[in-house]
Amino acid sequence: MKIGFFDSGLGGLTVLKEAIENEGLNEEIYYLGDTKNTPYGTKEESFVKEVIEDNIKYLVDIGCNPIVIACNTATCLSVNELREKYKDIVIIGTEPAVKVAADAHMNKRILVLATSITVRQEKLLNLVENLHIKNEVDLVAADKLVRFAESIDCNERGQEVEEYIKDILKEYDLKEYSHIVLGCTHFPLFVQNFKNVINEICPEANIDIVDGAKGISKNLMNYINILKKEDEVVNKNVIKVITTKESEAFEIRAKQILNEHNLKFEYKLQ
Ligand code: DGL
Repeated sequence: MKIGFFDSGLGGLTVLKEAIENEGLNEEIYYLGDTKNTPYGTKEESFVKEVIEDNIKYLVDIGCNPIVIACNTATCLSVNELREKYKDIVIIGTEPAVKVAADAHMNKRILVLATSITVRQEKLLNLVENLHIKNEVDLVAADKLVRFAESIDCNERGQEVEEYIKDILKEYDLKEYSHIVLGCTHFPLFVQNFKNVINEICPEANIDIVDGAKGISKNLMNYINILKKEDEVVNKNVIKVITTKESEAFEIRAKQILNEHNLKFEYKLQ
């Protein structure tokens, strides 16, 4: 069974990692990172929609089903149209885990961090509205974290990352918050940095940092069970990583993020 994963870059690997390590995903995986066009969150929406379409078409053409759009930005821009276009393919989207936070927020506030595109999309605004938590939620763009995550020397830039996070968080009285929702799949790479900053600027805060990886992975495993034919051979630990532009940074970072997993890099050049 060919499972497609798609993100603008490395962020979707945080979802793939969760699915492999904690949900037992064990199929032939095709991970497509759009290295040519990353980051999406600060670009023109019409342009981003076009490249998302090309990328999903690639995964469909090589026979992936289901396809996980492991990217909040791509999901909020295009998932409805893609589902309409590919009716026979299961397309699993990614949404900020606002509901998880809303179910447990105990009248405290929720800070949602995502890309600029995601925070202004109706999809997220409607979600917040429907959960009746509009007045308790702050939506904030944190695009620079995507660039940090994609940089070859990301692991050496912890201090810069934390300065950036501090600049964002210092605007809020963190004691009033119960959750920070990481609404971009790149952001979970910085959970420890978030914790360090919270500890430094507001040690008395009691904040859960949540993301959507678990929910998406569970969803994916359910669909695999439904779609799987009984006699289908399992293709153990084969992960083909495909990018739209050769990128040394991507290769190095992907190996760091997925560490022990068997990665085979292939390049699709558009
Ligand atoms: N990982 C992405 C997301 O979840 C996209 C980040 C970007 O390319 O700006 O939104």
